[in-house]
Amino acid sequence: MTLEELKAKIESELNDIKLNLQTLSELRAQYLGKKGPIQELMLEMKNIPQEERPAFGQRINALKVLANELFDAKKKELEEKQVEEKLKKESVDISLPGKEFNQGSIHIISKVIEEVEDLFIGMGYEVKDGPEVETDEFNFQLLNVPKNHPARAMQDTFYVDVEKLLRTQTSAAQAHTMLEYGGTKDIRIICPGKAYRRDEDDATHSHQFTQIEGLVVTKDVTMADLKGTLEVMAKKLFGDDREIRLRPSYFPFTEPSIEVDVSCFKCRGKGCALCKDTGWIEILGAGMVNNNVLKMCGYDPKVYQGFAFGVGVERIAMLKYGIDDIRSLYSDDLRLLKQFKL
Ligand code: PHE
Repeated sequence: MTLEELKAKIESELNDIKLNLQTLSELRAQYLGKKGPIQELMLEMKNIPQEERPAFGQRINALKVLANELFDAKKKELEEKQVEEKLKKESVDISLPGKEFNQGSIHIISKVIEEVEDLFIGMGYEVKDGPEVETDEFNFQLLNVPKNHPARAMQDTFYVDVEKLLRTQTSAAQAHTMLEYGGTKDIRIICPGKAYRRDEDDATHSHQFTQIEGLVVTKDVTMADLKGTLEVMAKKLFGDDREIRLRPSYFPFTEPSIEVDVSCFKCRGKGCALCKDTGWIEILGAGMVNNNVLKMCGYDPKVYQGFAFGVGVERIAMLKYGIDDIRSLYSDDLRLLKQFKL
């Protein structure tokens, strides 16, 4: 094969549209490799008259350079084509109609919990979690409710076995936290979560409901601190111009115990159906941590005092959003839930 023929052959092979990067590299090895035709031409050099050799050599070299350039150019071309094809395959048709996303919304129970969490985190509290399956010890005994105590009748309980039960109140978190903090550290926590009682479900009762427990244990804390804290919470939940009032009550784990009312946000105290014409709405139970509880949970009542409160989240949500049946909070009726896209 002459140089010219070889050049033409390489050019025509490189024009083959079926070439890909793999076959191109094979082709390159075939033409430019050790046993290839260009190398063969080099070997023919010895059969050529002495004086023609330099010119012949230069022509072979020129062909070699040219062939390399042609292969390089082809390689670049194929690589670009590959990228282009890939881009084409991955491109998005922006004229297609979009998929409709049915975005959910935060449930009002979660919303109330988040609001309260935000408030208390801002005041330096920690948010705690506690088990829903509790022991009798944590749900009752450490909270000053021994076995057979009449106060157990206040909360009809789902027992799992003799010792285990579904917690009837998030107050169980009080005992857990005090024991965890070891009797020497200050405590400022809230614990939101589910609680269970064997109530007949009706418009205002549910066998499963949600509470937020609050507990502060430190030196020199008084009922005034409790009142101030609850006032801040009531204003955050029901509006800045709300007031609270405390009424004496009874809980075994607090002494004194109080029930807390907020001034009616609907009639602003004048009296309406929501507040049953009293101008006040009951929102939570609270009190100073009972000395017996402090002692049982490792805190010395001569050094430490504490206050605690427990809010029913459903009650707050119902009051805030004018819902008159607690069961609708647990229903999957989108018409209700969608009203509260917040
Ligand atoms: N655990 C009480 C209840 O469920 C509420 C409460 C909590 C009262 C903390 C006082 C202190 O009724």
